[in-house]
Amino acid sequence: MDSDHRPSSITRRQFVTSSASVLALGSFTARAAGAPSHQPQRPGRGPFRVIIDTDPGVDDALALLLAMRSPELKIEAITAVAGNVPLDLTLPNALRMVEIAGRTEIPVAAGARAPLVRRLVTAAYAHGENGLGGAVFPEPKTKPVAEPAAVLIRQIIGKFPGEVTLLTIGPLTNIATALNADPELAGMVRSLVMMGGSLSGGNITPAAEFNVYVDPEAARIVFQSGIPVTMVGLDVTRKTSLTEDHVRQLQAGQNPVSQAAATIARNAIEHNRERGFAVGPNMHDSLAVAGFIDPSLLQMKEYYVDVETAGELTAGETVGYSPNAGDLRRRAGMEKDATALTMPIRGSAPTLAGTRTSPVLRDKFVPNANVAMDVDSARFFDLLIGRLSEKY
Ligand code: BDR
Ligand code: CA
Repeated sequence: MDSDHRPSSITRRQFVTSSASVLALGSFTARAAGAPSHQPQRPGRGPFRVIIDTDPGVDDALALLLAMRSPELKIEAITAVAGNVPLDLTLPNALRMVEIAGRTEIPVAAGARAPLVRRLVTAAYAHGENGLGGAVFPEPKTKPVAEPAAVLIRQIIGKFPGEVTLLTIGPLTNIATALNADPELAGMVRSLVMMGGSLSGGNITPAAEFNVYVDPEAARIVFQSGIPVTMVGLDVTRKTSLTEDHVRQLQAGQNPVSQAAATIARNAIEHNRERGFAVGPNMHDSLAVAGFIDPSLLQMKEYYVDVETAGELTAGETVGYSPNAGDLRRRAGMEKDATALTMPIRGSAPTLAGTRTSPVLRDKFVPNANVAMDVDSARFFDLLIGRLSEKY
């Protein structure tokens, strides 16, 4: 993982205070520079307070089960959002997972039914009409809490300022709604780890990854909020294909979580095969959760990430700027150099009809995200399958 660029001397209080004022100015840059570091968290450390925002979803379901079986996480809430399937399905699916894991003490809240400014596009083609790849579980008996997701998110972060990490594995509508409602909120979030985005092409369009595609405006709010973001995107999640052997290991686990995971996984593999895919389904969301539990699974690189919201073909594309990547790259080590740091962030050339005169959006490079660039897939599956089947 890249070494951290943020000053280590800043206290949490200084961070929160400076964050609030910078947010008030509508700028994220000084915040990102003053944000707390992405501390390595080895398995067995913690527990860390988290809120999981999700749209179950086959891989969401396994990610939730992994999270609820992981002692490193203190899950303060699970918030459902529309995405893979409508909210009327993602909410009960989240409740089903909580019941299967025997964790009904975790509050589950209903979130957004639709993206901030767009019509909902679902991925029922990939997750089946019920969102769980056709795997059928009983109607949940547990009820969601009364508070809407965005309200609950604000309440929990307000109760534990500087302590809560947002683990987001669906479109970012709930998080953006909470941030929009309270300009101080971003400064109180410890970090945000998302499954979303890609610097190497999309999965729903050639440009965009599904979670960002569904609500690009929400994703943009998150990336520009100043919250320290870890982006676990398709660049790494594409390298995590579920196999028949994984299913066999899950089937061998003699507990309800392992059995449920095996059923979901078996259906998902079958569905993928029917659709003609050469490999099993990717465990996108579980990798984001696992990467938070054990950051040594992922190799990270700092980027300034922004989200395309205007494109006719490319909305939801995550664009990553770095002084040592692509044609803009400098010699190794130069990214910390003052010259390299003046690298401007450019957008598209101004049109004749527009009022903007310059393509320069930011006059210097300041990273706002750690982006996962590579993954140890074997160790990831050891963790995922091991936790679900109760091996460890
Ligand atoms: C993401 O999109 C959804 O279909 C998955 O659940 C995952 O969160 C992958 O692009
Ligand atoms: Ca998801």
